[in-house]
Amino acid sequence: MGKQTEKCFGLVVLVPCPYQGHINPMLQLGTVLHSFGFSITVVHTIFNSPDPKNHPHFIFVPISHGLSDQDIAYGQIVDNIVEMNYNCKENFRHFLEKLVMNEAHGEKIRCIISDELMFYAEAVAVDLNLPSIILRTTSAATSYARCALVRFITQSSVLFEGSDSHDLVPELHPLRFKDLPFSLSKDFGKFAELMGTVYGKRSSSAIIWNTSKCLEELTLEKIQQQSHVPIFPIGPLHMIVPFNISSSLITEDRTCISWLDKQPHRSVIYVSSSGSIAALTEKEVAEIAWGLANSNQSFLWVVRPGSVCGSDWIELLPKGFQDSVGDKGCIVRWASQREVLAHPAVGGFWSHCGWNSTLESIGEGVPMLCKPSFGDQRVNARYVSYVWRVGLELEELERGEIERAVRRLILENEGNEMRERVKEMKKEIEDTIQQGAFNLLALEMETNFQIMMG
Ligand code: UDX
Repeated sequence: MGKQTEKCFGLVVLVPCPYQGHINPMLQLGTVLHSFGFSITVVHTIFNSPDPKNHPHFIFVPISHGLSDQDIAYGQIVDNIVEMNYNCKENFRHFLEKLVMNEAHGEKIRCIISDELMFYAEAVAVDLNLPSIILRTTSAATSYARCALVRFITQSSVLFEGSDSHDLVPELHPLRFKDLPFSLSKDFGKFAELMGTVYGKRSSSAIIWNTSKCLEELTLEKIQQQSHVPIFPIGPLHMIVPFNISSSLITEDRTCISWLDKQPHRSVIYVSSSGSIAALTEKEVAEIAWGLANSNQSFLWVVRPGSVCGSDWIELLPKGFQDSVGDKGCIVRWASQREVLAHPAVGGFWSHCGWNSTLESIGEGVPMLCKPSFGDQRVNARYVSYVWRVGLELEELERGEIERAVRRLILENEGNEMRERVKEMKKEIEDTIQQGAFNLLALEMETNFQIMMG
């Protein structure tokens, strides 16, 4: 990434969705834009607010979100997102109106970039005649599928076979019904409604995508054909920003790096099977624990505080498990994931396949063991295991299956072949970066900014 130049293209206001998997790519985008000469202001909710110390060149503006502590801790994320869009809108409008009034004395407001889920920001920007851009933080395949599903539902043209069917979904090859990024559970209606808004008629002038042409060329082409505005697949954003810039909401425990330093080359499976949102039952945790122990491979396991239902941290791990694994296992609350994945001791990543984790694993050339929990994670797992063939999908959280899958990934030829393939993908992405494709895209974006913003 180039150093920040003296030129100042004006101010870009970023509006992230307040969850880790959304904050990371938005702040990475801010870092890239800042290096191109834009000033960055981040408007964020008070809950899950980013740490300004990690981004000393940005201005952070908290706005009230109107959710209760109860909603944040126990509410459904879909409900919270809908509520936030409702509650933040007027506060954001006041903030932007003041910014516009002060424009004569300060910087020109170039653009509002909002997470695809924070559509209130786009509505306010358009009301105030400010250019607006959407950031999509999922894969293109997920967006394409969600968009199609919204259409199918509206036209009542798809027969839902049940969420565990292995049959292919018409028009959505290679996705099977079990890979669909919609839960067919009770909140299906609400989620579909939210997706209808997210993928319905939008008024932004462009869409930035945290994906790469290298990874999703055909899907991106199909999306561009259907889109009225230009799309910019400038990701994976984490590969453009410096390694040491973190936007973690939880303190990273770096003791695991010294533990990794003592492990042989490619011997460790890194396990972060819940990401920043998903949770596990005590029974599931017991299966994971004994599956890892019985595989007899070293593991680094992130157990996020609160991610095991009914406990604060690891109180519900099975009795005798930690004694039985001894130094072969290291458990932390939260890791510096990019640093872990880049460590030579890591031979595989057991992931829930959140899109950021998927990109980070590919970006470090690490093959995956996929066990998606919900939503887009299922699409990502399908692409990792079936399309790109750089990972295995775990069908059941059952200790015998886990033991075999970990050994296949770390010890067997199959794992080595996946490692070779993912390293090639990593190289392809790096070559694209070296050839300046990202810079060209960013430049094109900059030119577009000039045109759009006059
Ligand atoms: C959520 C959804 O679950 C996911 O499907 C969607 O794509 C984005 O929002 P999340 O659970 O946050 O994702 O997963 P992911 O997208 O992988 O993002 C997690 C981020 O947390 C990654 O950038 C990862 O590096 C970071 N992380 C995770 C850490 O920094 N430390 C850890 O110990 C674990």
